[in-house]
Amino acid sequence: MDKLLSLRDAKALSNDEVHKLFSSHINPSLGKMMKMLGFTSKRPVRAEGTSIFFDDGAEVTDFTAQFGIMNVGHNHPRILKAREEWAKNKELEVWKFFPSPYQAALAKNLSLIFPGDLDISFFCNSGAEANEGALKMASKVAGADRPIVVHTDISFHGKTHATLSVSGSESKQNKHFKLLPDCVSVPFGDIDALKEVFIANKPRFGKTRVSTFIVEAIRAEGVHVPPDGYLQEVRRLCDDFGVTLILDEVFTGFGRTGEMFAFNHSGITPDIVTFSKTFGGGKATFGGYVARRKLFEKAYGSMNDATLHSTTYNGYGEEIVSAIEVINILHEENLIEKSRETGKYLLEQLNDLKAHHSLVKEVKCVGLLCCIRFENSVAKLAKLVPGKGSSHVISKLTTGGIISQLFENHNILTYTPPHDFDLLFLTPPLTITKQQVDELVTALDEVLGVNFSESSQVFLKRYMQA
Ligand SMILES: Cc1ncc(COP(=O)(O)O)c(C=O)c1O
Repeated sequence: MDKLLSLRDAKALSNDEVHKLFSSHINPSLGKMMKMLGFTSKRPVRAEGTSIFFDDGAEVTDFTAQFGIMNVGHNHPRILKAREEWAKNKELEVWKFFPSPYQAALAKNLSLIFPGDLDISFFCNSGAEANEGALKMASKVAGADRPIVVHTDISFHGKTHATLSVSGSESKQNKHFKLLPDCVSVPFGDIDALKEVFIANKPRFGKTRVSTFIVEAIRAEGVHVPPDGYLQEVRRLCDDFGVTLILDEVFTGFGRTGEMFAFNHSGITPDIVTFSKTFGGGKATFGGYVARRKLFEKAYGSMNDATLHSTTYNGYGEEIVSAIEVINILHEENLIEKSRETGKYLLEQLNDLKAHHSLVKEVKCVGLLCCIRFENSVAKLAKLVPGKGSSHVISKLTTGGIISQLFENHNILTYTPPHDFDLLFLTPPLTITKQQVDELVTALDEVLGVNFSESSQVFLKRYMQA
């Protein structure tokens, strides 16, 4: 056996060695993609607030918040301090046999920030796990004779078997897996289609066979906002048919859209809300759901059923103090208001940019959930060539070229969502400043300008070599 690597050995690896080990032991294609985008030539050594610092001295502004995790910024000092104290005091890490004061306080806080009787919490480790738990609870409430789960055509709820089964945006991948039966897709934002499914599955004398509707209040990827009044109508329909309404706030939660949760824009009270990402403050993998009291009591209220759904690690240690701090920081630093205001400013600047660049087809921001859709005339033409997948590749080249230019020449980190390569996704920490927004827009103006075709060619070359 080769010598085991120590932490010191890990730190001493060259950037080339890291890339080679990542590619051979984790994911070769992901390794190639990172290289193409220029992400392997330097290495992050520190992160603070909105910045990532690299080993070549570069300070890069993070307009991704690492897929929307770092709403309160990287390494927030309050979260670091809480975790340091936890470790220093050698607190009990896993509270399996005693009620934890930290868990109790976090659950109380959640009951305060959610409306109505959404006041029973369950904690777990990820967004997918939160959605799994929510789907199971809804199924338990409805009973085995109501197996149908409705979801939307554009949606992502995770990559476990159950959550993939209700993730419309993953439909191309789903052909590789045996998914759950009885999952029905309806178009996002289409209330009539939803009603049709509820009615079509209602026997003459009895309840609809639908147990659950799962949806994002705002579909994060692509910033899809449903028509006005949609969620209120959904709420009414679910009440009429006795269907459990699950809102997935894994991406949109904790201030991302300029409200604490995206459903707060609508004023409704869902039955179950799932969350993760920012919940762990960017320091811990942490997720969970809150459910209405009456639902929880029906599902798991009896002694016999109390642990029907559980998991080993469900919020005991540093993750729980991180989450308590996250909710307090969001309030005390007015980050929700900042998200709203800075998002509005970013949208104005991006609209200005759109007026000057024909490549920019559409810009959208709800709070600091933002995206730019690129129109690529070559991709449009390529769509006419069936079966070659060429438009997909050209979209990748366009957006990939822009991402790598912004990173390599302007020290700005951006990304494209996994299901739509025509989009540049912008989800910075909510602490991002107007000055940093200006820097992004100036950089984009330059990248999309005179040298655009040149930079696309540089990216194309890397793409061919990969
Ligand atoms: C809306 C939404 N739901 C669920 C998930 C799955 O979360 P996780 O990756 O933590 O399992 C994601 C992840 O990006 C998401 O964006």
